[in-house]
Amino acid sequence: MRLSSLRATGLASTLALTVLFGCGYRHDSNAFFVENWSSEYEIVNSCEPTNHPRGGHMEVWIDPSGFAAFTAGEPLPDGSVLLKPQWDESSSCSDDPDLYTVMRAKTGNAWDWQTVGRKGDIEETNAGDCSSCHATCGESLMCTFP
Ligand code: HEC
Repeated sequence: MRLSSLRATGLASTLALTVLFGCGYRHDSNAFFVENWSSEYEIVNSCEPTNHPRGGHMEVWIDPSGFAAFTAGEPLPDGSVLLKPQWDESSSCSDDPDLYTVMRAKTGNAWDWQTVGRKGDIEETNAGDCSSCHATCGESLMCTFP
């Protein structure tokens, strides 16, 4: 085989592998946030370093019902979603996020907690260390805007 056709074959199989196994994100229907969060939610904290142990950068987004209450200075209604995408390397928060940490409001200053990996797989739901650390932020358990 000539070098040029070897190269073409190599490129074709790379493309095929990318299509098959790609860097694709597959949204889990049990995730607390919607797949098209970046068009449906409002950003309330733009890209900055995170204080989470994993490090990197983060943004904070909030769903429409939560955003309405947030801007009115009212408690967030049940079901409100706070989504914090995190980036391990990117300091401009421009690639696909490496991790999604999520809080979903339930009655009485209580939350469900979740982490979702970069490919959309749910890693943890209601892990104990989430609420215990957030309790140090104040009664609402919210750290960005107590
Ligand atoms: C060691 C302390 C600590 C732990 C553990 C922790 N958080 Fe946080 N969290 C913070 C701080 C501080 C912020 C403020 C933003 C930042 O620095 O990332 C925050 C912000 C958030 C936000 C944005 C809304 C808000 O409250 O400001 C979400 C969502 C969130 N964390 C989810 C989680 C989840 C889910 C877990 C458990 C898997 C978790 N956190 C564990 C300290 C912590």
